[in-house]
Amino acid sequence: MAASGESASPKKLKLVVFGATGRTGKELVKQALEKGHHVTAVVRSPEKLNTQHDNLSLVKGDACDLESFAAALDGKDAVLSSLGVYANIFNPTTFYSESMHAITEGMTRHKITRLVTVTSWCTQPGPNNDWFLEWILKPLLLNGVIKDMATMEKTLESSDPQLLNYTIVRPCRLLEGEQTETTRSKKGSATLGQQTRLHVQMLPNLC
Ligand SMILES: NC(=O)c1ccc[n+]([C@@H]2O[C@H](COP(=O)([O-])OP(=O)(O)OC[C@H]3O[C@@H](n4cnc5c(N)ncnc54)[C@H](OP(=O)(O)O)[C@@H]3O)[C@@H](O)[C@H]2O)c1
Repeated sequence: MAASGESASPKKLKLVVFGATGRTGKELVKQALEKGHHVTAVVRSPEKLNTQHDNLSLVKGDACDLESFAAALDGKDAVLSSLGVYANIFNPTTFYSESMHAITEGMTRHKITRLVTVTSWCTQPGPNNDWFLEWILKPLLLNGVIKDMATMEKTLESSDPQLLNYTIVRPCRLLEGEQTETTRSKKGSATLGQQTRLHVQMLPNLC
């Protein structure tokens, strides 16, 4: 029995992870399993995830097709998404808003309220954003992805808080490996810095 004043051990959760075969998702699954959580990974290609663990289940599904993964949500505590696709201004995507629509509909169906998802550092027009970011980088390089991420964020922001308790993690450029530097940004501005995937803080946002 825990001594008086000693903190209780953190709750072990049943998590559903989308994007588990990706660079951030693999790290997320690893960290979740290390913390003792049960992970159900919804993936298109199960063979890409070579992690084996008693607390890991794989479900083959497409994040835009609710019926392909709906059963995996049954009885779970929370959903984590590090989904991503490549897109550019000539080939813009609607993947982020479409997949989140399917995921949140499934969550409502299965009465799951907790969601943590990843978008990106420059989805919001911060009042102190660098001119290079707002006028060069976003229009020329990023809008094929950023616009749809922002649409997805707006959908979450307008959701019923009784049905959805969400956290959006907005990392800057993601690298592999150990953390090498700390990036600070001015209030109200997106940062052009970088961080490693190891430090995308999704799990601490759960409880
Ligand atoms: N890279 C950066 O520097 C950076 C910076 C800021 C934010 N972000 C954002 O962070 C997130 C994660 O980035 P990342 O680099 O880890 O991404 P990633 O390695 O490209 O992984 C993307 C994941 O999404 C999965 N996916 C794509 N379409 C799917 C579908 N229809 N159904 C199910 N799964 C699907 C992929 O599965 P498959 O293996 O089957 O393709 C993969 O597991 C992305 O949203 C990205 O935009 C990235």
